[in-house]
Amino acid sequence: MSIQTVQISLIGFMGAGKTSVGSVLAGKTGRQFTDTDERITAGAGISINEIFARYGEPYFRDLETEQLKKLRKETEPLVISAGGGLPLREENRKLLRQMGPVVFLEASEEELCRRLRGSSSRPMLQGGSLEERIRTLMEQRQEKYEDAATVRICTDGLSVTEVADEIIRITRI
Ligand code: S3P
Repeated sequence: MSIQTVQISLIGFMGAGKTSVGSVLAGKTGRQFTDTDERITAGAGISINEIFARYGEPYFRDLETEQLKKLRKETEPLVISAGGGLPLREENRKLLRQMGPVVFLEASEEELCRRLRGSSSRPMLQGGSLEERIRTLMEQRQEKYEDAATVRICTDGLSVTEVADEIIRITRI
């Protein structure tokens, strides 16, 4: 029988703080930090914008699933920051839950808007008003995030360190 390593995954909308909280959480818990977007761009040798432009969103989503399957086999304890759209696929939500605690970092639309204004590296936010894009995507995604999550944390008004400490307290890692 193989024993699977427990991994902590952070999910949530773009700008929810997955990368910044994940790095601090990894430092505090002695885990390595990894980010699915970074793994994908390192493997592809081009930016996320370029992947979307050249090959389209479904291709990018396939790369996310591929990375998640690789991460599932990792034996080193990790903190994983999952791209904002990764939990959209049921297969991915299942994989995430099998790997360990899945922390949904929530933030209000106003807060997300503030943090994401001026971001040009996120193809899902291009075109139309930022407020509208965020609202529409959140409507489509909220239930997927809730379905994937084992823990939910509202990050509004909390510092990155406070969020990381709250994750440690709740998950007891
Ligand atoms: C996406 C979120 C991004 C990145 C890609 C698509 C999304 O990651 O994976 O641009 O669909 O929400 P972050 O959540 O780290 O910005």
